[in-house]
Amino acid sequence: MKRILIDTDPGVDDALALIYAFKSPDIKVEAITTVSGNVNLETVTRNLLKILNILDLTAFPIIAKGEAQPLVKPPVDAEDVHGKDGLGNISELLNSTGTLKYDTADCQFTDQSADDLILEMVDSYPDELIIVALGPLTNISKAIQKDLSRFRKVHSLYLMGGVFTEYGNITTNAEFNVFVDPHAAHEVFNSGVPIHIAPLDVTHQVKLTGDRLQTEVFGREDVISHFLTDSTKAVMEFYRENVGFYGFHIHDALPIGMLNHPELFRSVDAHVQVETEGELTSGMTVADLRKQNVIDPNAKVYVGVDADSFLDLFFKTILT
Ligand code: RIB
Ligand code: CA
Repeated sequence: MKRILIDTDPGVDDALALIYAFKSPDIKVEAITTVSGNVNLETVTRNLLKILNILDLTAFPIIAKGEAQPLVKPPVDAEDVHGKDGLGNISELLNSTGTLKYDTADCQFTDQSADDLILEMVDSYPDELIIVALGPLTNISKAIQKDLSRFRKVHSLYLMGGVFTEYGNITTNAEFNVFVDPHAAHEVFNSGVPIHIAPLDVTHQVKLTGDRLQTEVFGREDVISHFLTDSTKAVMEFYRENVGFYGFHIHDALPIGMLNHPELFRSVDAHVQVETEGELTSGMTVADLRKQNVIDPNAKVYVGVDADSFLDLFFKTILT
């Protein structure tokens, strides 16, 4: 059993990752912290409660609200991709009875800050807790700043972020999560904990097309199938107009897949750093991928995935 804390900015792909994590028999989601990213903190926090509600859980993880803005940079959002509500504009959908189709779960947030909850969970499960970071790394860096020696008792950190050998998705050379808070990413990359990075280089290899989703949910009337259909329409339209296919990259599901099925992935050890000040390059991640004279690695960078097998196992898990 892998005990994890998920830090997230839901976000449609975050929602799929959360569903995947809760449906994974070998994963126990002990805690969740929210961070401003795709949309503002209040909205990502409300979105988390909507996602927890569709999961129909018998027990909720501990949840804490995190940071409302990056360490240094001004906030940037991704409403153009995820919709103004961050979940594909499904938040006002109504049932036939006129009630909200996707309401929030009756789950109370702890009054702890996200960084305190992160450190408390590491204390509770030393050398065992795995942190899965699916948004800007602001909360994680706050925990590092607060008490690095406690933070270093984490087993490992799996994060979706960065890009190394292709274009970025928010600027020419930066990926969104790292671009939003490059100073936080710098703290994380230099924290000394084992880091597993799922950059765009690998997440772009997994395309969830509208046809595939329709095939998977065809004839199903369960709430998760309805949520998958409703929440992905807007992002798939965005991709049709801006990326060139009707579907989208389920970026944040990959770190969960790396935990469930590491055999489907290929990674390289590399020294990773991030630009924090460049006018044109802020948020750019740089990995020393040379074959010799490399700087001591500080991360495993995932560069390949068996995308077909990943998607087959992803759907088998979330629709069971
Ligand atoms: O670049 C993709 C990442 O940015 C994903 O985590 C997505 O949810 C957004 O946060
Ligand atoms: Ca995210």
